[in-house]
Amino acid sequence: MDALYIHIPFCDKKCFYCDFWTFINMGHEIDRYTDYIIKESRLYPVYYYDTVYFGGGTPGLIGADNFAKILSALKVKENAEVTAEINPLNYSTEDFRNYRKAGVNRLSIGIQSFQDHVLKTAGRNHNGTQALETYRKAREAGFENITVDLMFGIPGQTLEDVYNDIKIIKEISPDHISVYSLIWEEGTLFWKQRENGLIEEADIDLEARMYETIIEELTKDGYIHYEISNFAKPGKKARHNTKYWENKEFIGLGVNSSSYYNDQRYKNLKNLYKYYKMIDNKELPIDISSLENVDRAEKEKMKIILGLRLLDTGIPYFNDSRVEKLFGNGLLKKENNRIILTKKGVMLANEVFVEFI
Ligand SMILES: C[S@@+](CC[C@H](N)C(=O)[O-])C[C@H]1O[C@@H](n2cnc3c(N)ncnc32)[C@H](O)[C@@H]1O
Ligand code: SF4
Repeated sequence: MDALYIHIPFCDKKCFYCDFWTFINMGHEIDRYTDYIIKESRLYPVYYYDTVYFGGGTPGLIGADNFAKILSALKVKENAEVTAEINPLNYSTEDFRNYRKAGVNRLSIGIQSFQDHVLKTAGRNHNGTQALETYRKAREAGFENITVDLMFGIPGQTLEDVYNDIKIIKEISPDHISVYSLIWEEGTLFWKQRENGLIEEADIDLEARMYETIIEELTKDGYIHYEISNFAKPGKKARHNTKYWENKEFIGLGVNSSSYYNDQRYKNLKNLYKYYKMIDNKELPIDISSLENVDRAEKEKMKIILGLRLLDTGIPYFNDSRVEKLFGNGLLKKENNRIILTKKGVMLANEVFVEFI
């Protein structure tokens, strides 16, 4: 066990597309929550972590002191990758220096787009200029490993908007980029706006064109497209997330976080106060209804589905009628005795995965 995820469920404002488990206007809980993260970590045996990932929500909201408090309560290996997601807001270079002192060495900046009209439609609480400023300050503070999140398929976003985002990305040259197509989630404001005819889903061909454009342009610029949604400069792949795709086990701390531990998958409770109470009782704050035993068959299946997401390594070759069919359809290819998605397979990845479910 060497991978730890820590969920920070606080945000300043709910983005219109987002259905992550987050609390708005609950900043007063942050210090107490930090203490409970530490208490929860003590309910597990002591592990030496090689990767720690603060995800959200908006982990940046907890501030450098709380990052330091949590990280100093854990055993973190010397060369560990310690990532924190942040939203582009009014951070100073000094804030980022303090993050580094606290032990954070990789930042994930949720930029989504540099185009103000796209950010406005999506309900983000920052503009393109603030996103750029945040990135520059993080570099100025000495961060040498920065990843940014971009989204496409947002209503009203054009191919030109995507080209303009890529142009800026090429100028600022982040070490890693995650690119997500919009997923329409029930219960979000976007969902309601679509039901009321106020916004429309992006045309499916336009969305495909956007994805192809991003792949073409970023790979031309020297990024390795190593996972369906992820691009890295050489040596800058996401170490923590790669463990997920390799189906390795990890512990998740915090409300609603997922864990894969001791051959079981489970989620923590969603309710903040029930979560605190279970920890006070020295019990893991698990939602029992989410608990699943992972048997050998399930493990093999997950290794295939997750492993195929890795575009430069794929999975070891095995003889199987489904694989042969997908070779025939041009969705999979065999290379160095490994099975890898083809270009067409990357575009139609879900059609490949359903074969193995
Ligand atoms: C867990 S979120 C948190 C990051 C941070 N709070 C932020 O929004 O900048 C990580 C990323 O998931 C992506 N994301 C969130 N909701 C999504 C959705 N409905 N469809 C596609 N991508 C989404 C966004 O790119 C976001 O940056
Ligand atoms: S996208 Fe990020 S900032 Fe926006 S509500 Fe979701 S977690 Fe919070």
